[in-house]
Amino acid sequence: MAAAAPEARIGHDPRCSERRVAPAAAGAQMRGMACDPGASVGAFLCQAGQALRAAGIESPRQEARLLLGHAMGVTEEALLRDPRAEVPPAAAARFRAGLAARLDAVPMAHILGRRGFWTLDLAVSPATLIPRPDSETLVEAALALFPDEAAPLRVLDLGTGTGCLLLAVLAERPRASGVGVDRVPEAAALAAGNARSNGLTDRAAFLAGDWATAIAGRFDLVLSNPPYIESAVVPTLMPEVARHEPARALDGGADGLDAYRRIVAALPGLLAPGGAAVLELGAGQRAAVEALAREAGLKPAGCRADLGGIERALMLRG
Ligand SMILES: C[S@@+](CC[C@H](N)C(=O)[O-])C[C@H]1O[C@@H](n2cnc3c(N)ncnc32)[C@H](O)[C@@H]1O
Repeated sequence: MAAAAPEARIGHDPRCSERRVAPAAAGAQMRGMACDPGASVGAFLCQAGQALRAAGIESPRQEARLLLGHAMGVTEEALLRDPRAEVPPAAAARFRAGLAARLDAVPMAHILGRRGFWTLDLAVSPATLIPRPDSETLVEAALALFPDEAAPLRVLDLGTGTGCLLLAVLAERPRASGVGVDRVPEAAALAAGNARSNGLTDRAAFLAGDWATAIAGRFDLVLSNPPYIESAVVPTLMPEVARHEPARALDGGADGLDAYRRIVAALPGLLAPGGAAVLELGAGQRAAVEALAREAGLKPAGCRADLGGIERALMLRG
């Protein structure tokens, strides 16, 4: 099926919000610009901005500020307060290493080691997907399904990765608790660390496992953002994604639907009475996943679009 292919073809991968401009166009913009060759903040930002633009990075100046702020251990605001300040040698070395990595298409989130999601600051690693803004649509859908802030919800997050979905819901529903499962033990450990750093460790548990096979019990809310890109499309994604994010977080099999088949089949045995599931979809996957859900005896209960208008968060009832 078409699944995520159209997004990949036009260079906007649903798994990556960064876009590229054509290097030739960027080169034209740069002509005639000269940077101060010194070691000041301003000089470093200028040189890095030009290098990043020439590499086709869409927001080169912003990325240069992020890299230099990270290397110097200061905020972007503090950086810009004194562009003539000298960059200390150790920070300069860190900055050059970060810039080289970024020019090699290492995602900015991996260089910084962090990514914001919903209201949370999360550690990220190459063990799993970098959380995407599109996935916040699932959090919105889940909160709309369970609007009572005082409800003691039991939540299950299948393919938890950084724990972003589960932790965002727990942050909004103070009496909710939940379990996150990931096949990759390093991802489950990363999520547990994120629960700790966000003060949610007493309500969140994480374990390594194959979808819900190790789970006993019923849940009010099941969340999942499974791998859903067609196998043949994965190598064609932007280099940041194809080269630096794990295929097991992206690859949904020949038609992109392998994980949905497993998860949807398990849902009737996981949902408590009155419970609901919210699944992330790739572009164009709604009809196919709804059909799988109906076959499993579930009732489709609507689909929420992301900010780009793509049907992203499919809601299912038991
Ligand atoms: C698309 S990522 C989503 C991560 C995170 N939930 C998010 O929204 O950013 C899919 C996650 O599912 C995990 N995964 C893949 N196959 C799995 C399986 N059979 N059982 C459990 N987790 C699996 C991957 O390791 C990856 O962390």
